[in-house]
Amino acid sequence: MGDEILQLLREDPSTFLSGEEISRRLKISRTAVWKKIQRLRTLGYEIEASTRSGYRLIRSPDLLTSSEIKPILGTKWMGSIIHHFHVLDSTNSKAYQLAIDGAGEGEVVISESQEMGKGRLGRQWFSPLLLNLYLSVILRPSISPHQASLITLMAAVAVADAIQEFSGLLPSIKWPNDILLRDRKVAGLLNEIQSETDRIHFVILGIGVNLNIDEKTFSKEIQATATSLKIEMGQTISRKVFLQSLLQQLEKWYSLFLEEGNAVILKAWKDRAQIKGRRVNVTSFGETLVGTAIDVDSDGALILETEDGKRIRVVAGDVQYKR
Ligand code: BTN
Repeated sequence: MGDEILQLLREDPSTFLSGEEISRRLKISRTAVWKKIQRLRTLGYEIEASTRSGYRLIRSPDLLTSSEIKPILGTKWMGSIIHHFHVLDSTNSKAYQLAIDGAGEGEVVISESQEMGKGRLGRQWFSPLLLNLYLSVILRPSISPHQASLITLMAAVAVADAIQEFSGLLPSIKWPNDILLRDRKVAGLLNEIQSETDRIHFVILGIGVNLNIDEKTFSKEIQATATSLKIEMGQTISRKVFLQSLLQQLEKWYSLFLEEGNAVILKAWKDRAQIKGRRVNVTSFGETLVGTAIDVDSDGALILETEDGKRIRVVAGDVQYKR
């Protein structure tokens, strides 16, 4: 989609490159060059054209295409293949299909918008065009399915660390995997796995981070409980730079998980969550439980002590902190 033209124009951004030269180097017709330039312009690339000298790249939009991201990525393998789309139903669904078709560990699916962004517990994830980050990462760890929730905890820690590294703010994690700033949700994770009884085939890490969305753009229902990095930092966020930090943190934490196992992940997660001893309401499968959070176990389940002293293991649900 014009990636090779961009590469050529970036070789020496200060000079013009003639249409003839581009057509010769890419082995395409002059008309094809012109069409690709037009297409790049509709995507937000500012390209100066001069009948005598050719084309010159003036400015790139903050798009998360492979050609924008790869030169700055700085990871060893995470994101070495980036599948970029302007619109998808859901990056998770696309990544799941790609993984079934054989896509490898560390391949990433990014979309500039989602029409059916999936949230936890069957909810929708609001995914307006170009404002935020919607991505799914394909992982193929050699672990058993019961360890899969550790991957979710690992990803929550990586997202929180990326937000902290990028902004200097201190995010917390709310069980199971909401990332909060000032007690408002800035990012969410939805992981899906395909497995057999004792072996995972692949994990899809679905991550949504609110970056440049304004308060008034959130729907009424979530306005009071959601936020974005732009709202918190008071400035527009470079999605590219944030993505770079996120993929680096994911590579770091996933490698740590593979090398050192569960304990290091659980500790980092608990440090961020500070859930022990907190009074909570937990809504799980239509029931509301009230009690004190005792801990999170090695499978990522919440251990809750109810008001009558019973200990319950909660595997899915929503937590609200009581003051
Ligand atoms: C949540 O409810 O907190 C989880 C939200 C996860 C949203 C992300 S956006 C990218 C990926 N694709 C999806 O369809 N969902 C996840």
